[in-house]
Amino acid sequence: MRNVTRREFAVLATTAVMGPPAFAQTPALLARPIPGSGERLPAVGLGTAQVFDINDEITRRKAAAVLQALIANGGRLVDTSSVYGDAEMVLGDVIASAGSRDSLFIATKLESPDAAELKRSLRRLKLDKIDLLQFHNVRDPRQSLAQFKDWKEQGICRYVGITSTRHEQYAAIEAVLLREKPDFVQIDYSLDDREAEKRILPAAAEVKAGVLTALPFGRARLFRAVRGEELPSWARGFADSWAQFFLKYLLADPRVTAVIPGTADARHMADNAGAMRGPLPDPDQRRQMAEFADAL
Ligand SMILES: NC(=O)c1ccc[n+]([C@@H]2O[C@H](COP(=O)([O-])OP(=O)(O)OC[C@H]3O[C@@H](n4cnc5c(N)ncnc54)[C@H](OP(=O)(O)O)[C@@H]3O)[C@@H](O)[C@H]2O)c1
Repeated sequence: MRNVTRREFAVLATTAVMGPPAFAQTPALLARPIPGSGERLPAVGLGTAQVFDINDEITRRKAAAVLQALIANGGRLVDTSSVYGDAEMVLGDVIASAGSRDSLFIATKLESPDAAELKRSLRRLKLDKIDLLQFHNVRDPRQSLAQFKDWKEQGICRYVGITSTRHEQYAAIEAVLLREKPDFVQIDYSLDDREAEKRILPAAAEVKAGVLTALPFGRARLFRAVRGEELPSWARGFADSWAQFFLKYLLADPRVTAVIPGTADARHMADNAGAMRGPLPDPDQRRQMAEFADAL
């Protein structure tokens, strides 16, 4: 069998995620099907760790602007957790005030399969149903998702998932992923930390789990590494900013369903959402990007 050319790869990758191109000039938005259902999810979302920790007026105003920027730029996914300070409360207040619930795909995480913790998260988010409920920081290969699946059966959540951002927990994540076959796995994956490519992305593909990439900028480590540097000329065809350069590396892997960069800045949200537009790097360009990151 002959190798696929760069151009053919670009067309295949685009067609696989967005369907056949309608009009070449229409700037299509990158959305990927959730493997378990086929529901399409815009490929850039919002992470909320550390950015909305305190439920005060200033934070609520920032969160409202960021969520507005997410929605205005075609995004839907918001990822939070029961342990991100007051973030669930901030989101609950802001989403209720804006009446934006139906425009969003809301994901949260629980520390354990505990009904009291779930009830608290739903109360704080002002929701009776959540889109995605994730088991936070899976660290034991024997951890069961039975309770989470039961909540899904009851209609309390539409999808279940597991998360981790620690390499030493990858064996546990892989084992739970393969055995429990959740709808999603959320894993740390960035241009300068590609460990997830070795075992987590292949395992996710095997069990048809969607992949959300936590820490896509390595907690801003990537921005610090390129501070003062211009975007390379060879990247100008697919990225308008460093943020889009970093995110498009991840999105060019068709196994990635969505990236969830964290931000408290509406302009950064709009910039990040720009990674859903325009071409993705092809395999040669991705290799060049990885070499670039390795040399930083
Ligand atoms: N175990 C787990 O399940 C786990 C663990 C960690 C994280 N997560 C999830 O992953 C999400 C992402 O991780 P993270 O927020 O810690 O780190 P990150 O997304 O890798 O980086 C966030 C940092 O990048 C900056 N930033 C964002 N967009 C930018 C832009 N366009 N230009 C310049 N700077 C930009 C942000 O600052 P500004 O606020 O100034 O934009 C912030 O300092 C979390 O929010 C959380 O939802 C999950």
